[in-house]
Formats: sequence, structure tokens, C-alpha cells
Amino acid sequence: MKIRWILPALISAMILSGCAGQTPSSPPENALIVVGISQVGAESDWRVANSESMKAVFTESGGYRLLFEDAKQKQENQITAIRKFIQQKVDYIVLLPLRETGWDSVLQEAKDAGIPVIVADRMVDVKDETLFVAHVGSNFRMEGEKAVAWLEDYAHSGGKETLNIIHIQGTMGSTAQIGRTAALEQALESHADWTLQARLDGDFTQAKTYEEVKQYLSEQEVPPEIDVVYCENDNEAFGAIQALEEAGYTCGEGGIAVISFDATRNCLTQCLNGKISLAMECNPLLGPLTAGVIRILESGGTPEKEHYIEERSFTKETLTEEMIAARLY
Ligand code: AHR
Repeated sequence: MKIRWILPALISAMILSGCAGQTPSSPPENALIVVGISQVGAESDWRVANSESMKAVFTESGGYRLLFEDAKQKQENQITAIRKFIQQKVDYIVLLPLRETGWDSVLQEAKDAGIPVIVADRMVDVKDETLFVAHVGSNFRMEGEKAVAWLEDYAHSGGKETLNIIHIQGTMGSTAQIGRTAALEQALESHADWTLQARLDGDFTQAKTYEEVKQYLSEQEVPPEIDVVYCENDNEAFGAIQALEEAGYTCGEGGIAVISFDATRNCLTQCLNGKISLAMECNPLLGPLTAGVIRILESGGTPEKEHYIEERSFTKETLTEEMIAARLY
């Protein structure tokens, strides 16, 4: 059995030997917990912060050897990475899945090899829930519901009887897209005076959203009346704002209400400047929570199956410069 070199053990060793304050020697290579992470890619500012959070936690001084694979937005690359981790006999696999479906076989292979899989960020839709030990991430449906509740207040307090909405979706089939889309769809069903003018696929990227919105606007005979753009992440919001402004629209007060998910520092700045009306938080800092699950497993415990992270929303009225400066991502 491997002797684990985890941080608490390291700290007690330092105290016991009276060398607190000195740099301890690195743990022996074969005592490190080997973690294989399969990341989606680097499509958004959120994703970059998420990878950094994982890399900051799974360090050699923390007792880990990290094998990090960037799937460059392709599920087949993630499947290949997981198979590679199985061959490398890692201790744990952390999967940040591109989309929900298509994981049954490869996760069964990991289970058969005795490697626990932790699903982080988005969820997997598998027939057998024992194929993963825990999920750490956001409640995307709840994020969407909070955004829609804000939109109801916005329409009500602004005396807006009708709303013309453009919906920019994220990567199709991902939990973030499914949850945020479902919340808007439900609201559209219950508000007969809200019109879905267009639904575009932004794939969670700034460049694709910019092109899609630009293309949509260029195809209209007369410039459409737009009240709201519901963007399923910050980078989509940045791309949409750029295309709308180039076409002569105003975003923010007196113009189009842009709703965005993630609330990264860049988005909060645009929110404080009034261009983004609602920034709904999606917290990418999942490294510590994921390591927490591994610690429980290492000590022989059974982690909770679901770990949702707390999230807030921001508007110009609730934001300050200090809050943005203190933002970690
Ligand atoms: O799954 C989380 C989503 O994926 C974030 O909202 C988005 O920015 C990312 O690409």
C-alpha cells in the first residue's frame, strides 16, 4: 500500500521535528497521489480560471502528481485521456466533461481498473451512478432560474409589457447549457408577452458568438427590436456586445439588457460600467473541493455524492470597485 504524503502529515512532521518555517523536503516520488485530470479545453475565461484552480491544488508540495490533459473541446480526446490515465494506473481520475452523454463505457473501464472517478464542473448522464464517486460543481438550472427571476423583476419594475429576447446557447449537451436553457424555456412558456426572437449557438466562446450575432443581424431586413440578450457565459456576452454595438445598438441602461453567466472579473467590470445588466456567478474555483473529496477517500471515508458550490448574482447597484479588485478570477 502506498504511504500518502498529504499536507496535514507534512505540517505535523515539521512541527514535531521543530523545523516549522523551514522548507520541507519534497515527498518521495512514489508517495505522491497521482491524479489524472481531463479538462474540456480553454474556451472561456471561466475555464482558464478553473484549470488554474486545479493546478494550484494538485502540486507536488501538496502531495500530488498531476497529469493534466486538455481535450481541446473534443469528447473523443477526453475518452482517450481517460484510457491513458487507466494505463498509467493513476490513483484518481477527475473528469470535467464536455457534454453529459457518452461516458458509460469509458467510466466502466475506469471502475473495472479500480480507479475512482470524480466528476467536476458539468455532470455526466450515465446509466450506473456508481461509475463516479462524487460530483463537484454548480447547479446550472438554479443559476438560470435566478437569472430569469431577475429578468421578471427587471420587466416589472421597468413597466415593460413585452420583451424581445435573443438567446445565445453554450456548448450543446453540456450541463451548463441544458440548465440555463431550461430555465429560460420555462420562463418563455409562462410569459406570453416574452418573445424568443432568435436562438444562436455561441459554444461558450467570444469569437463564435460575435460571428453568429453579426450574421443574424445582417440577415434581418429591418434592424430587429431587441430588449434582452441572454448569454450562457461571459465570453458570449463580450462577443454579443461587440457585434450589437457595431450594428448601432446600445447595451445597458436605456438599451439592451445583457444577461451573463460566470461573473468573471472582466464581466463584473462591464457590469459596473453598465453594459452588462446581470452577472450571474458560476464559480470556477473547484480545485479545493475536488481535493477535499480525494482526502475523504484517502482516509477511507465516503464523500457526499453531490457538492454544489455557492453562487451569487451581481448588478451595477450591488457592485463596487473593491469587490472587483478582490475577485480571484
Ligand atoms: O461548465 C461551466 C461553463 O463552461 C462556464 O459557464 C463557461 O464559461 C464554461 O466554458
